[in-house]
Amino acid sequence: MEKKEAFIIDGLNGERKLSGEIVVGGAKNEVLKTLASTILFKDEVSISNVPQIEDVARTLEALKNLGATVVKENNNKYRISTAGLNTSVISADIAKKLRASVVLTGPLLARFGSVDFPYPGGCVIGKRPIDMFLDGFKSMGAAVVEADGRFLVKTEGKLKGAEIFLKNQSVTVTETFMMAGVLAEGKTVIKNAALEPEIASLGRFLNEAGAKISGLETSTIEIVGGEMLSGKGLCHETMPDRIEAGSFVILGALCGSDLRISKCEPKHLDALLYNLKESGVNFETGPDHIRVYGNEGRHFKSLDIKTHEYPGFPTDLQAPISILLTQAEGQSFIFETIFENRLNYLEALDRFGASTRILDSHRAFINGPAKLEGRAVESPDLRAGLAYAIAGAVAKGRTEVHNVYYIDRGYERIDERLRAIGLDISRREA
Ligand code: EPU
Repeated sequence: MEKKEAFIIDGLNGERKLSGEIVVGGAKNEVLKTLASTILFKDEVSISNVPQIEDVARTLEALKNLGATVVKENNNKYRISTAGLNTSVISADIAKKLRASVVLTGPLLARFGSVDFPYPGGCVIGKRPIDMFLDGFKSMGAAVVEADGRFLVKTEGKLKGAEIFLKNQSVTVTETFMMAGVLAEGKTVIKNAALEPEIASLGRFLNEAGAKISGLETSTIEIVGGEMLSGKGLCHETMPDRIEAGSFVILGALCGSDLRISKCEPKHLDALLYNLKESGVNFETGPDHIRVYGNEGRHFKSLDIKTHEYPGFPTDLQAPISILLTQAEGQSFIFETIFENRLNYLEALDRFGASTRILDSHRAFINGPAKLEGRAVESPDLRAGLAYAIAGAVAKGRTEVHNVYYIDRGYERIDERLRAIGLDISRREA
């Protein structure tokens, strides 16, 4: 059972005071997949720069439940062996807590010829179907039976390489078939594959271990199937989390005097940085850092934000950028194209004093600038939860963000790290 905790934030009332350095952790949305991919390995493999977040803990728990051995070498490095895996049944308990558990299905099916899993749960950000997973498995020669809310996917012998066209450029679907293709018979071609950099990083890791994946960073990925992979002598370093980095840049623009966001990949944030520049935010980028400074007294301009698959504006930065738009002059427009109902968090933002108007499940207006006042709010998911914490930092007075469990799913010790750059934030039992 998750602990009931809240963040208490004493806001800066619009002053820009945060300063110093904040180091970006390893990417949640890469590591959850590299951990799942250890199922494709015949021996032990090491993964470093692993963020200490709830979703990683859940994924490691899932691997252990399946029979894997997990050794924590130090705070951010693990050695994992799935040699002793003895089942390909994903428990309801794991699936309920972790939407990303669905990426275990591809490697399990490819290795064991069957996988049994319930409908995956996770954050409440609207309808999250799994039809593309099931259709792809069928194209690879598997039979799918659905009964009592569970899916049993089975193949005679090995999965067969296939041409799979994705009707949506889905991140986890692309990763699932890239992993499944590694142990399939013959060639798998994923067309209209997603381009998120976490996918290419996973692909390069698998290639280092013996996979034959080409077309990474393009929308046609080809995988020539073969034997199980070997992790001998291999330690994969998780790439920096671009969503965490982007959120810190937004926080720096709103509340920072001189903030250095380090150990990140600015080139993964082109869409955000383009928009921040348009809005009038002052920053500079280096090869692995972004410095946000000189924004005292600046007035930001409103923006039209349309979320899009990479390299477009990431849906996972849609809630954080909204906080900036509450402070920008004029009317901004948000068009969330990836998920339905990922705008509901705006209602609570109005209680802070923001002026937003939800037009439908995909579109909203935000009018600014608004004076925000601290409020008690519930975090609906990890991205909106952090956005509320940013709103609390901007606001006058005290903000309580409840359901911190959601925020801990994606951001390591976020309260300690924000405190270190000068934010008055503490954690208490709620
Ligand atoms: N879709 C289908 N059928 C499917 C699967 C997806 O129609 O079987 C649709 C979805 O409904 C959506 C679109 O495809 O409209 C794209 O969603 P996608 O599948 O790419 O999302 P995801 O793979 O489930 C990952 C991240 C999300 C991130 C999205 C988009 C992980 C574990 N999750 O989700 O991250 O928002 O890609 O970039 O990688 C988060 O970290 O807070 C988060 C939600």
